Amino acid sequence: MINEKLPKIWYGGDYNPEQWDAPVWAEDERMFKLAGIDVATINVFSWALIQPSEDTYDFSGLDELMDRLYNNGTYVCLATGTGAHPAWMARRYPEVTRVDVQGRKRKFGGRHNSNPNSPVYRKFAARLAGRLAERYKDHPALVAWHISNEYGGYDYSEQSEAAFRVWLKNRYGSLDALNKAWNTRFWGHTFYDWEEIVVPSELSEEWNGNRTNFQGISLDYRRFMSHSLLECYRLENDAIKEHSRNIPVTTNLMGFYPELDYFEWAKHMDVISWDNYPSLDTPVSHTAMTHDLMRGLKHGQPFMLMEQTPSQQNWQPYNSLKRPGVMRLWSYQAVARGADTVLFFQLRRSIGACEKYHGAVIEHAGHEHTRVFRECAELGKELEQLGDQLLDARSEAQIGIIYDWENRWAIDLSSGPSVALDYVNEVHKYYDALYQQNIEADMIGVEEDLSRYKIVIAPVMYMVKPGFAGKVEAFVKAGGTFVTTFFSGIVNENDLVTVGGYPGELRKVLGIWAEEIDALLPGMGNEIVMGKEWGALNRSYPCDLLCDLIHAEGAEVLAEYGTDFYKGMPALTVNRFGEGKAYYVATSPDALFLQGLLSNLCAEKEIQPLVSAPEGIESVQRVKDGAAYLFLLNHKEGELSAEIGSAERTDVLTGKTFSGTAVVPGRGVLILSDKN
Ligand code: GLA
Repeated sequence: MINEKLPKIWYGGDYNPEQWDAPVWAEDERMFKLAGIDVATINVFSWALIQPSEDTYDFSGLDELMDRLYNNGTYVCLATGTGAHPAWMARRYPEVTRVDVQGRKRKFGGRHNSNPNSPVYRKFAARLAGRLAERYKDHPALVAWHISNEYGGYDYSEQSEAAFRVWLKNRYGSLDALNKAWNTRFWGHTFYDWEEIVVPSELSEEWNGNRTNFQGISLDYRRFMSHSLLECYRLENDAIKEHSRNIPVTTNLMGFYPELDYFEWAKHMDVISWDNYPSLDTPVSHTAMTHDLMRGLKHGQPFMLMEQTPSQQNWQPYNSLKRPGVMRLWSYQAVARGADTVLFFQLRRSIGACEKYHGAVIEHAGHEHTRVFRECAELGKELEQLGDQLLDARSEAQIGIIYDWENRWAIDLSSGPSVALDYVNEVHKYYDALYQQNIEADMIGVEEDLSRYKIVIAPVMYMVKPGFAGKVEAFVKAGGTFVTTFFSGIVNENDLVTVGGYPGELRKVLGIWAEEIDALLPGMGNEIVMGKEWGALNRSYPCDLLCDLIHAEGAEVLAEYGTDFYKGMPALTVNRFGEGKAYYVATSPDALFLQGLLSNLCAEKEIQPLVSAPEGIESVQRVKDGAAYLFLLNHKEGELSAEIGSAERTDVLTGKTFSGTAVVPGRGVLILSDKN
């Protein structure tokens, strides 16, 4: 449980009353009660108000707000407010603002504009966090700490450059080792002095986002920036913990956000929280996968849904409304996948600046007679009734899909073989193939213990870090099924090619050699022609993007390419290794192929779909105290039914019982417990 003070799914969100006048506050409180709101995240951007000058802190407004909320029955997720530094600080200490990738020194403005390697910023941020913790540690309203806000963005200042050199010295020990790791003999880059190393900005090695001349330095800079921002988090975290040891600390993450290695971050966070902002056309399975990734960061521990909009965003190109019922449906999607909170951005809409058209529980109309408020209030009631029933429930998925940020950086930075290669997209294809068949998967990191899974899928495992190949071998030897794809096993953790034949360190377990990699132009394709023994799968399937030209070295060939000069070469192989099997999918297949393949592998490993249901139904199960809660979420407008088996189950929301066929209303939700 995140905090025993509030043993239910927390309901509420970001609340910025400093933006409006006192008479409105009483209205806010009245409406929070009506909506069943019990948690407000406050102080997210209040640094300038709390610290009007270098030596002055003024907590009077926050004192009053904390008390007011508590007296109204609202708990507080208290932010440290360091997501935007005050203007006076930027004026007095220009080093606190960032330098961007083009080398331009930023002035005061925006948010998330603090230089993570500025000692001044670090000092003031940690001091503020400490002061807040000292002051509010025993406040009865406090249930969680929220450090800064959506950490992200990189800095290319002199301070970061100096810190980067120190970080490199720690990582490599000597310039010789660094020169080797970065392969600096290429284009005459040999370094003889640490001071010669400069940040890889658009003034040196990079252009257009992820284009770089030197993968080694660019990759390390991403690691270093993720680490620098994490250090800022840790400084505030430590300052808080000095006073407040028992209140969980978090910061709001952003799903597949590319710039930070959240698996590293998770090691230092008490609880994961994240902000979920799908647009109208985001595939629901993509959102599901992101929730699963957030759950996977701390090995299945429940997370907080820190932000979602009750209706619409303001920052997307087209800010469509969530259709009636969708806010509730997507809230339960988060709960189904491990969220123990349902929080919004924002509880009341601001009247000025760029987020005034961002949806809120309390709209500009200011009263409760709105569609959005009604929907929020209904959900509030439901969550109250649910109580603590689902808190801390866990997933029992038997399949793990590997996702790794460093691998993503290396793929994104890679010059060749194809600009169309999108790692997240390839991972999603495999996730979606299971999702569409109502088969659960966990999203896991490369450090996860694989032995708890029957099947492990590692799409485009381009970078194989030390120890990973051995772990895969042990997993397969012991009977596991491992699946990987084209463009895997190519480089080590420094993006240096493992020579002697692709897929390098994975070659032995896979029993293949990939000789060449063909990149297909947009619109070009090839075919995967399945061998006869694949029954219903015995046909040909389209594939595109990349085709590895492989040779079987002990692996059995299950499919061949259908066209081009490599027609007849293997497109899908399986290698028996110890008690298990290792599959290599040499190209990027269509959805039907992946569904067929994965359904066969699941059948072989006796992994059953949760239900049988048409497209549009999402099913997921969480388990707690011996009870299994089966969530059925209908993402379509019309009703759909799912076959849930003959045992009777009770919907915890309505008390109705179901067996056999369960009809789920359009955009409806059933949470079916097997303990009646
Ligand atoms: C992010 C931020 C919030 C707000 C919302 C708007 O998640 O954390 O402060 O800007 O986006 O969608």
